Amino acid sequence: MTRRNILKRWVLFGLLGGLSYPLFSFWKEERYRPPIKKRVSKWLKPGEFLIEPEFLLLMAEDGPIAISRKCTHLGCRVNFLKEKGEFLCPCHQSRFTKDGKYISGPAKKDLKRYKVKALKDKKGFIIYMPR
Ligand code: FES
Repeated sequence: MTRRNILKRWVLFGLLGGLSYPLFSFWKEERYRPPIKKRVSKWLKPGEFLIEPEFLLLMAEDGPIAISRKCTHLGCRVNFLKEKGEFLCPCHQSRFTKDGKYISGPAKKDLKRYKVKALKDKKGFIIYMPR
């Protein structure tokens, strides 16, 4: 094999690699990103709730639920209206029930729920928020 043939092969491999990269560049391995753990050092009785900047923690009859305060329309932070017992988005007035179910407005989906773990001896909760 001559030096010229070896060089041609390397140029050919380089061209094939360069041309095929855009075809496979989207095929990346998903990296696992662990959720953000937020600790709440307060116990709630049934019916009580706690408002945090990222979520509302509510003690329902069947256990604690954490509802995201990020609107499912364009991502504004929803406010909780205590007197009505529902969420209202200040951006385009989407409304959601106390447990995050969609009522009206341009956001057509329910608010997201986060996984909640109750700590032993009623010391509080850990909320797992995806990144
Ligand atoms: S961002 Fe909430 S309704 Fe548009």
